[in-house]
Amino acid sequence: MKHTLLLFCTALVLLMAGCSKPAENIIRTPVPARPAGQTDVLGLTAEPIETVHIGVVGLGMRGSDAVERLTQIPGAEIVALCDLLPDRVESSQATLAKRGKPAAAGSYSGTQESWRGLCEQPDVDLVYICTDWLNHYPIAMYAMECGKHVAIEVPAALDMDEIWGLINQSEKTRMHCMMLENCIYDFFEMTTLEMAQRGIFGEVIHVEGAYCHNLDPFWDEYWDNWRLDYNQKHRGDVYPTHGIGPVCQVLNIHRGDRMTTLVSMDTKSFNGAKIASNHEGKPVTEFANGDETSTLIRTEKGKTLLIEHDVMTPRPYSRMYQVVGTDGYASKYPVSQYCLRVDKPAEKVDARHISDEKIYSGDELKELQAGYRNVILTPEFEALAKSVGGHGGMDFIMDYRLVYCLRNGLPLDMDVYDLAEWCCVAPLSRVSLENGSMPVEVPDFTRGAWNKVDGFHYALAEGEK
Ligand SMILES: NC(=O)c1ccc[n+]([C@@H]2O[C@H](COP(=O)([O-])OP(=O)(O)OC[C@H]3O[C@@H](n4cnc5c(N)ncnc54)[C@H](O)[C@@H]3O)[C@@H](O)[C@H]2O)c1
Repeated sequence: MKHTLLLFCTALVLLMAGCSKPAENIIRTPVPARPAGQTDVLGLTAEPIETVHIGVVGLGMRGSDAVERLTQIPGAEIVALCDLLPDRVESSQATLAKRGKPAAAGSYSGTQESWRGLCEQPDVDLVYICTDWLNHYPIAMYAMECGKHVAIEVPAALDMDEIWGLINQSEKTRMHCMMLENCIYDFFEMTTLEMAQRGIFGEVIHVEGAYCHNLDPFWDEYWDNWRLDYNQKHRGDVYPTHGIGPVCQVLNIHRGDRMTTLVSMDTKSFNGAKIASNHEGKPVTEFANGDETSTLIRTEKGKTLLIEHDVMTPRPYSRMYQVVGTDGYASKYPVSQYCLRVDKPAEKVDARHISDEKIYSGDELKELQAGYRNVILTPEFEALAKSVGGHGGMDFIMDYRLVYCLRNGLPLDMDVYDLAEWCCVAPLSRVSLENGSMPVEVPDFTRGAWNKVDGFHYALAEGEK
């Protein structure tokens, strides 16, 4: 009797599993067909612009810092400023005056769509967007419609419709659409990219990236509580780009490989609701974003990425940045080190040692790195970046490279497909989580051209190659 019951239950479970099993064990999101007459924007170039006239929209914590930095970039001039709040525009005008720069002729504020005037201002070449996340997309779309290049803070797009919208708009208008992902320009990452490209790690097969940053001191600082509010309403890795950007460059994503499948898992929200309750001053019970979200991604060439998001716990700041190759390993967080395979004759192997790899840290790490200076990072430029600062200098390098490429009519370091790949982790991780961690397809945002470019390279002007 006991056996019969067991067999019956097993059959029932199998039957149910069979019934609910999808035809394919993967969820696909729609890929819109490329409109007729439109082509990809890989390697997109535009006419060189001698002085890049910039309009900055969103002058809160990040935007006001960008104004400071952009005044120190050769060939850049801020000609328009916009924020919903008039006093923030005034304050950035004061920054220009303090730096001995002319006042921005265009001052836009007061309404939710004051930025339309800035996008329409004839002399603006580049619209530089530093608003809250929800405003990135409409501003960028309108700016490109007005014939302006756009640079958008992270994450540039929030869902698949926005991602495909920006791709189509850039392809249609032939305007640059770049996400301001500064972490690809940090010094450890730039040097390690150079090392990976020169093969020191063998073939890179696995990478890790993260955004672990306890935002407790910041939650109350954002305009209109936009950031906590977004986390409260959305499950998934809502801030993936700092973690995934630098490691995608190492893997040459859409330059010889592409991400194909993603799965995510999260913890429940342990701290989120408490933080929201403190903020609201009344009990909040619903909080969608898990305290810790982990996403695993597999590539066409059989490599993997692990991406994490945690802004709710006291875990020390980390973007992880780990690179695993067939012959070596790099790690920035939590410990900066490299580890390389040492070839030893078989008779010298000592079984009592756990490992015989050579670990480089401290001074040895610096000596090793010195042999792999990144092509765009001359010692003078590095010193200048560090003196201007912005997260230690990487923000300055990002702005410098953006303006340099526009001035020289070169392809930018990051294109709209990088934007798409790095942003899609947010909506696609949400799909996976809401479906019991099922695999989700990562679309080929280039729509067939992911293998056209051979590896990631920085564009350099003639005479600097
Ligand atoms: N790359 C980095 O290291 C980094 C660091 C911090 C923030 N960020 C990004 O920068 C962006 C801004 O973040 P923040 O910390 O400065 O936020 P913030 O809240 O300090 O600033 C947002 C600003 O946008 C303005 N704004 C809102 N709606 C507007 C509208 N309709 N028109 C014009 N202005 C409008 C607000 O008045 C506010 O001044 C976000 O995308 C964030 O993720 C990036």
